[in-house]
Amino acid sequence: MTKIKIGIIGSGGMARHHLTRFTAMEAAEIVAIASRNEQTGTQLAKEHKTAFISEWTRLIEREDIDGVVVCTHNDSHGEIILAALQTNKHVFVEYPLASDVGEGEAALKLAEERHCVLRVSHPESVSNTHKALKQKIGELGDLLLTSFVRLTPGRGARPEILFNLPVSGIPAHFFIYHIYPIIDFFGGAASVKKSAAYEGLTENGQYDGFVNTLTVEFKRGGIGQWTWAGGIAINAAEEHERYVLAEGTISDAGGEWHCTTPAGVTPLSIPDSPQSTLQELWLSEIQDAANQPPNLEDAAVALDAIRISLAPE
Ligand SMILES: NC(=O)c1ccc[n+]([C@@H]2O[C@H](COP(=O)([O-])OP(=O)(O)OC[C@H]3O[C@@H](n4cnc5c(N)ncnc54)[C@H](OP(=O)(O)O)[C@@H]3O)[C@@H](O)[C@H]2O)c1
Repeated sequence: MTKIKIGIIGSGGMARHHLTRFTAMEAAEIVAIASRNEQTGTQLAKEHKTAFISEWTRLIEREDIDGVVVCTHNDSHGEIILAALQTNKHVFVEYPLASDVGEGEAALKLAEERHCVLRVSHPESVSNTHKALKQKIGELGDLLLTSFVRLTPGRGARPEILFNLPVSGIPAHFFIYHIYPIIDFFGGAASVKKSAAYEGLTENGQYDGFVNTLTVEFKRGGIGQWTWAGGIAINAAEEHERYVLAEGTISDAGGEWHCTTPAGVTPLSIPDSPQSTLQELWLSEIQDAANQPPNLEDAAVALDAIRISLAPE
């Protein structure tokens, strides 16, 4: 079997996660790791018996690499994926797709022109729960309202990165993984309203706590509302999600999905069928790209999601 040759960019938590997945796969070979962080980069390269490169620009130029996995912070995704697509590399990028809508649009255009796979790490493509929700939503008529609330006491593992406007963007952007699934259900927004307040905001854009709300009117009708609050006086994280549709309401309660209609409440049935991993999906898409143009539907949803998360406050 011809192996797909991969370069990894970044050497933090997600780089380690993807490396572990890819090295366990017969169809993949890790050719090099590029990282600006020499300490974690060389360590990771040593553990995986692969080459270390200090600059990602040199990694994407290599002709012995088919695809790159971008695991850097949010502020560099757009620049790196554009450069990688320009050298005809297939791309797997950690979410968000980009931190600039123009860069995201250009990336989709380039991927289409160059017949390159562009996959963003949103896991919904391989999620049984997401597929079951999508089917149920399709059965219950027009959307009236979807609401999402996440309240969290903590500041994450690396607060200096997470609670950092220039590096990660506003909370709605670093919580893009709460926006993407809903855009996959209901499509893009006709209008977006946002507001955010920060506690302890410093001149360099770091902060200690936040409240961020987002309201959209979907192009196909219906309203979406997201609320995030972090670094707040609450003991444990809380999350609630609801889809109010013309013929019923789907909501999660204690981690279980239920559907309420005038006839009563029924649990959402979620099949137990095995799903491939995102890494397996990406490799199979690269193999298929030899014979047909890549499917960029998922990347288009990821682009619609950043159009919302990056809409002006
Ligand atoms: N899919 C998921 O479940 C999931 C979960 C968490 C995070 N994420 C996303 O994954 C990405 C990485 O998160 P992480 O938790 O792995 O972060 P991390 O542990 O801080 O690692 C980021 C790595 O990228 C490097 N880096 C950052 N900016 C760079 C740049 N401009 N040029 C070169 N190298 C750069 C960092 O170097 P330094 O060490 O020098 O900073 C570090 O090696 C983020 O975009 C995040 O939103 C996804």
